[in-house]
Amino acid sequence: MSILVTGGAGFIGGNFVLDWVEQSDETVINLDKLTYAGNLQTLASIKGSAQHVFVEGDICDRGLVDALLATHKPRAIVHFAAESHVDRSIHGPGEFVRTNVEGTFALLEAARAYWSELKDDEKAAFRFHHVSTDEVYGSLGPQDPPFAETNPYEPNSPYSASKAASDHLVRAWHHTYGLPVTTSNCSNNYGPFHFPEKLIPLIITNALAGKPLPVYGDGQQVRDWLYVKDHCSAIRAILAGGRLGEVYNVGGWNEKPNIEIVKTVCALLDELAPSAEGSYSRLITYVTDRPGHDRRYAIDARKIERELGWRPAETFETGIRKTVAWYLENTEWVRNVQSGAYRDWVAKNYADRAEAK
Ligand code: NAD
Ligand code: DAU
Repeated sequence: MSILVTGGAGFIGGNFVLDWVEQSDETVINLDKLTYAGNLQTLASIKGSAQHVFVEGDICDRGLVDALLATHKPRAIVHFAAESHVDRSIHGPGEFVRTNVEGTFALLEAARAYWSELKDDEKAAFRFHHVSTDEVYGSLGPQDPPFAETNPYEPNSPYSASKAASDHLVRAWHHTYGLPVTTSNCSNNYGPFHFPEKLIPLIITNALAGKPLPVYGDGQQVRDWLYVKDHCSAIRAILAGGRLGEVYNVGGWNEKPNIEIVKTVCALLDELAPSAEGSYSRLITYVTDRPGHDRRYAIDARKIERELGWRPAETFETGIRKTVAWYLENTEWVRNVQSGAYRDWVAKNYADRAEAK
């Protein structure tokens, strides 16, 4: 038995593949294009494992996906591959439409062709799980209830619009063709192997390098934070018991303003890696806001708890401590991802963000 994972060299997909190999006997076929966000060093601990087959390639390459499905006959597809960074989608939305929309379309069509030829029992057991985001629901006011699965879609960034489009395709392939799909919409993840262009790893790595800690706008934007291993366990639960065609919101019941996240990371670094120059919070710098910046996300995760018994294992306090410790222990992984391409991105994203007075 095997499963096909897309985007398994990225942050969440990489954590999912590592957990899968540790917890299951099944083989994982891992299809990843190795964009700037894909990193085989994340998978170094399972190098040579017969349970992990890495294939460098594009989800848009229909011939390649057809061949992988025909060769490995997976019982499920777990679809992580995406362009995932909101700021990059503002600088260059084209790649987001290509991978997130066209890529999901190509994958759905390949899955449908493969699934329709399976024997009845295999057909009934097959699953296509689509990994999506809470950002498709738009932005909440301070007193609004958290996002439920029934909230209307109101995506505001090129990234969230492309993910919303992919969610709609997945839904339609179930309703029209009967493809056995499930979808999860999850809040902000954090944890090991997080690419240091996203808030938490950026703050940790900048602080340790003595660089400014850029906080967009007033820093009062609220996100719900979930430790990545909890997201992985939620996906495993949905794969095992999720109802076909259903959407499950996944979150940590853990809403915090960005500035609080930044100050928490600084306090942990002060404790675990104190700087001779004083608290890392001295590096906090308010900079020009992200265009169209969503003010608040929050997740109502009662459905997945009620139907599948899933709840996060980590609190923010335990998860962030583990995360900071991981970055302190894995400086080589960080150094290797901070390549030339990473430096180019940092220059592009922060160059025209004047320091707010
Ligand atoms: P990531 O950017 O770290 O990794 C994406 C991976 O997909 C990379 O390994 C990249 O090489 C690969 N990829 C990109 N384009 C590809 C293509 N055309 N073909 C094959 N592989 C390709 O992303 P992530 O943060 O791990 O997010 C994974 C998924 O989870 C995404 O679908 C994202 O929308 C969703 N999600 C992320 C978060 C979060 O907080 N990071 C939260 C909710 C949902
Ligand atoms: O909500 C789920 C989403 O979370 C996922 O779908 C995305 O793939 C993932 O990237 C993440 O999106 P965000 O835009 O919320 O993550 P990011 O880490 O880029 O930013 C988190 C918050 O911190 C956001 O409000 C913007 C702010 N921020 C970010 C950066 C990079 C800053 O204040 N300064 C920064 O330098």
